[in-house]
Amino acid sequence: MRKVLILSLLAAGIAAAVPSAAGSGEEGSGAFGTHRFDDYERPQTCRQCHVDIYHQWEQAMMSQSFVHHWDEIEYFDLAKPHAAQDPALEPVVSGCNGCHAPVAWVAGEGDPPPPEAGSRANEGVSCDFCHTITGRTGDPSVNFNYTVEPGRTKNGNREGGASPHHETRYVDFVRTAEYCGICHNEKDPYGVWVKSTQLEWKEGPYAEQGVPCHVCHMPRAPGRSANTTPREFPDIAQHLFHGAHDPGKVKGAIEVRMNPDNREVEPGDIVVISVQLFNGKCGHKVPSGSAEERQLWLHVEAHCPDGRIIHLPVDRKGFEGEEQTITSNELAYQDMGMMLGDPSFAGLPRDAVEYEGDRIFCLPYFDPQGRRTIAQWNTASLGTDYRIGPRETKIETYTWTVPDDLPEGTVVVRARLSYRRLVKSVAEFLKVPEDETEIIPVNEAETRFEVYEY
Ligand code: HEC
Ligand code: HEC
Ligand code: HEC
Ligand code: HEC
Ligand code: HEC
Repeated sequence: MRKVLILSLLAAGIAAAVPSAAGSGEEGSGAFGTHRFDDYERPQTCRQCHVDIYHQWEQAMMSQSFVHHWDEIEYFDLAKPHAAQDPALEPVVSGCNGCHAPVAWVAGEGDPPPPEAGSRANEGVSCDFCHTITGRTGDPSVNFNYTVEPGRTKNGNREGGASPHHETRYVDFVRTAEYCGICHNEKDPYGVWVKSTQLEWKEGPYAEQGVPCHVCHMPRAPGRSANTTPREFPDIAQHLFHGAHDPGKVKGAIEVRMNPDNREVEPGDIVVISVQLFNGKCGHKVPSGSAEERQLWLHVEAHCPDGRIIHLPVDRKGFEGEEQTITSNELAYQDMGMMLGDPSFAGLPRDAVEYEGDRIFCLPYFDPQGRRTIAQWNTASLGTDYRIGPRETKIETYTWTVPDDLPEGTVVVRARLSYRRLVKSVAEFLKVPEDETEIIPVNEAETRFEVYEY
């Protein structure tokens, strides 16, 4: 059955690197349909003893990966209708579940019902799934290429844990970034890396210094990992998995400072303001992961002595594809019309933030017709990667001719870096609840200079 789908996909002429074939559930013990639901225990069972860890996981996106409103909308209202028109996409869309509902996937449920049906797909990325992963079918980690061994033995990060409910086993792989990369790296039907958090990490300073994902997303604290164990440790792994959905994690993730090239200017002079943006806290690029829909943009404005507020558009650097990195409301995302059966769909404003002309740090995703898309499975190419890498500092400049009619006094220039999980125009169009488009203030800075009449 799976083989037939893959063959028809190839016959349909889609590029050879099919996600469900790229080491993803086509081979190995984590392959589609190789287990039964009953092989996996429910998270509620683990709650009996691992109380804190359970309640942490319950609040994290891991437990929401199938039922969260935006996941549900994109999967059921966009991806599935698209696959219904183009059967070659069926295995690809079914493959969403390899990461978002992995228990259902290995149990052979490639088309789970919506969350209200209460199926076990709703468990999302569950305790028992993660703790019975044994390895991966190939290098690199990509497209749910896990190997699994569900059963009595739970794989963990310590030796000698004694539990009345299960066996424990130390597995080195559990502590590696490659373990996370199994679901945090994704290659689409066109062979494009549409998610590469672990690969970004691998190229950066944190991999070199041996700091895996866990250090920042599963931080350590003293305590016990189960209510029923006498063993205490100084470094119990907290199951926070906090990322884009935790404003506290996003705030301050990038530091912002700025300075003018001159502190004393006359009306009519040109002043150049430089803004430095430093990624000192993230192990990967920002934004990472679902970069097709995350937004990080810098707004700069001058507050003049006469009360005027003047928006300063960012200076062009002149690199290829730069127009995608400057906020604009040109129409984009036309491919959603095709998915929803409305070929006359004109598209939606591309960035839909308050101002055009601001720098937006992004990795643009393009559909086969070369238009911007938020459908990572319909991404045929990527634009210039203008995100902020781990420990990278980007400098943006703002060249401003001080207005002739400006009175004497102090000009305060303010910069505001903001983050949004999902493009507002897309969210409104698809009726995604507002919390997904909340603007998170990442950081701000200000600098000043004096205007004198000589
Ligand atoms: C996304 C995969 C994932 C999920 C989901 C997950 N865990 Fe873990 N868990 C890990 C990893 C990775 C570690 C080891 C962390 C380390 O050593 O850095 C771990 C560690 C643990 C430990 C040992 C903690 C310690 O430091 O001694 C326990 C107990 C545990 N998990 C139980 C659970 C329970 C119960 C759930 C569900 C409520 C759960 N886990 C969900 C990946 C996961
Ligand atoms: C079995 C697949 C799988 C594994 C293994 C996995 N993740 Fe995830 N993870 C997901 C999915 C799916 C989501 C997205 C949930 C959503 O938003 O729908 C997610 C979400 C997250 C988020 C939240 C991002 C946000 O938008 O707020 C963080 C942080 C994260 N994972 C870190 C990790 C780390 C660290 C590891 C390794 C210890 C790991 N993950 C292992 C599948 C996985
Ligand atoms: C009846 C109580 C109980 C239940 C139910 C239970 N556990 Fe445990 N578990 C323990 C105890 C006790 C330990 C040992 C903790 C220690 O001393 O480090 C443990 C340890 C672990 C470890 C850590 C292994 C390591 O490397 O330190 C993992 C992982 C784990 N359990 C996963 C699970 C999962 C997943 C479930 C649900 C399917 C579950 N447990 C259900 C009591 C329980
Ligand atoms: C040095 C600390 C650090 C390390 C190491 C790290 N992260 Fe992060 N991560 C962060 C911070 C801070 C954020 C919040 C800012 C942001 O969204 O990028 C974040 C965000 C995320 C997000 C949400 C990204 C988005 O924009 O949607 C995911 C998913 C994630 N991390 C997964 C991982 C994985 C997987 C690894 C390992 C391969 C990893 N992280 C390593 C600090 C870290
Ligand atoms: C290789 C694993 C993998 C596959 C396959 C996958 N996803 Fe995801 N997905 C993730 C991870 C990991 C995240 C979280 C990344 C982040 O937060 O930046 C995510 C995030 C998302 C989000 C954003 C959630 C939010 O609240 O911001 C949506 C929506 C989504 N996926 C839908 C899909 C759909 C639809 C498909 C199939 C066409 C799919 N995914 C296939 C791993 C995967």
